[in-house]
Amino acid sequence: MFVDLEKLKEIVREAGEIISQANLTPEQIRSKTSQKDLVTKYDVEVQDFLESRFQELWPDRHFMGEEQVEYRYEQRGFLVDPIDGTSNFIFGIPHFCISVAVLEQGEIVQGVVYNPVVDEMYWAEVGQGSYLNGDRLKNPDFALGEAVFGVGGSPYDPNSIEPTVRLIAKIMEEGDIRRLGSAALDLCYVASGRQGGYFEFAINPWDIAAGLLIAREAGVTVTTLDGEEPPLTRTTSILAAGPKMYAKIKNFIGF
Ligand code: IPD
Repeated sequence: MFVDLEKLKEIVREAGEIISQANLTPEQIRSKTSQKDLVTKYDVEVQDFLESRFQELWPDRHFMGEEQVEYRYEQRGFLVDPIDGTSNFIFGIPHFCISVAVLEQGEIVQGVVYNPVVDEMYWAEVGQGSYLNGDRLKNPDFALGEAVFGVGGSPYDPNSIEPTVRLIAKIMEEGDIRRLGSAALDLCYVASGRQGGYFEFAINPWDIAAGLLIAREAGVTVTTLDGEEPPLTRTTSILAAGPKMYAKIKNFIGF
């Protein structure tokens, strides 16, 4: 059984209000795994709000959130990033979102990604297509030179810096890149065609789960950077693009 998607969107929109009304001060920011991995009072507040509302309405579902002390994966539940793009949020760059995926038997069956700054709600249900607010999404299947390509950086994973730079250089021989700072929105932007594709060498399940479904439902191919299914149990690489661009990057990497 899926959850009531309208109800889920309503709760996520309410959580967006917490972020829109935030008045962030330096004391409310702290680092997690490294100096570049930050969390704010509002990441925690939004996560607590979502957890308590979900528990009221759907008490039999497990809750997995980025800001929990320990990530304990379960096949049935909610996989949540309360603020994806925390650094953007901290520096006042208006590009961040709340990301919520619903899992059933380990599959992502529903996804909601909401940017409260521009009031853009991306959502999808498996087999039913994906949407931006009320508009159905379809990836336009651009060639590499016809659209910008999104890149994620993972400063907490030094091993990914070299391969990231190499792939950027290769893409820039024909195309152009963007580093927007929210993996969930990167995937939604590929769904809508604002970006032709997106890759990142080390990304966490809560950042990508909802966006992955939204992208796939819009005709985007999403795998790891070696062509496998991205796992939801641990950090992974990711490559998302329309069929033409995907084939091109696959060829560059050689998997
Ligand atoms: C980060 C963003 C960023 C990506 C990083 C993520 P967070 O998530 O999605 O775009 O490049 O790898 O960790 O920390 O803002 O939730």
